[in-house]
Amino acid sequence: MNTQDKRIALVTGSGRGIGRGIALQLARDGYHVIVNGVNVDPANTASGVYEVKSAIEAKGGTADVIRADVSSAQDRQSLVAIIENLGRLDLLVNNAGVAPTQRRDLLEADEESFDRLISINLKGPYFLTRDLARRMIDWKSDGIVEQPRIAFITSISAYASSPSRGEYCLSKAGLSMAATLFADRLAEVEIPVIEIRPGIIRTDMTGAVQDKYDRLIAEGLLPTRRWGLPEDVAKAVSAFARGDLDYSTGTVIDVDGGFRMRKL
Ligand SMILES: NC(=O)c1ccc[n+]([C@@H]2O[C@H](COP(=O)([O-])OP(=O)(O)OC[C@H]3O[C@@H](n4cnc5c(N)ncnc54)[C@H](O)[C@@H]3O)[C@@H](O)[C@H]2O)c1
Repeated sequence: MNTQDKRIALVTGSGRGIGRGIALQLARDGYHVIVNGVNVDPANTASGVYEVKSAIEAKGGTADVIRADVSSAQDRQSLVAIIENLGRLDLLVNNAGVAPTQRRDLLEADEESFDRLISINLKGPYFLTRDLARRMIDWKSDGIVEQPRIAFITSISAYASSPSRGEYCLSKAGLSMAATLFADRLAEVEIPVIEIRPGIIRTDMTGAVQDKYDRLIAEGLLPTRRWGLPEDVAKAVSAFARGDLDYSTGTVIDVDGGFRMRKL
């Protein structure tokens, strides 16, 4: 990998959707981007992680692909080892996440789906952050990385109840606390940690429920009457990556078209 001594950002789950938007934005911001995903096929540059790498390079940026399933301890270990070899990490964006394959009423909640979501959406980023934060502390104290930063992409589901996908809400509520915990722990070494909470964003993940959200948005669910886009989330990450929010460690940035507001 030739990172040209640039600042390095790892964006988990960046072969499509919000992660893809974040990866493209960070490359424009001058980062060497590590594009991560589970399904990795170098022959496929039409979609997935290698499409993202090509799109970055087509605009003059630099990127590499690292395959790793964030829910696998072994994969996380290899990912961390590769990054250690690169010798620096300036920004970690915990973005990878999944929705339940099937929505089910809370009274029919499925244990297997619960374990899957907790493992990918919460346990994976929690332990990946533990391991990479330790390296970031060393790289910072050695003067190799001037200002490391960590972002967690959670969801409005961290606080909004959807009884048809309880496991998703629980995983995101837990991830929100993970962001707070790391922000608290890393504040003394001045490594800012932020939670970015997307609302309803147009991606493959929401493709299955597009009609429902089209209707709800038309009926006024969101004060800003449009779907969010991956670029909307990417802009928030970019502001954080630039250092504009460093003294706001532990804060939550809502990227939700105003969904958070209570109205009368
Ligand atoms: N789309 C939305 O409306 C929305 C809203 C709030 C939060 N989010 C969150 O934003 C993040 C991205 O969502 P998206 O809409 O782009 O979803 P997406 O399904 O389009 O993309 C998710 C990406 O993560 C990858 N991924 C899945 N499991 C992984 C694993 N175990 N290890 C590594 N990569 C993995 C997938 O391959 C995919 O490329 C997720 O954490 C999601 O929960 C999405």
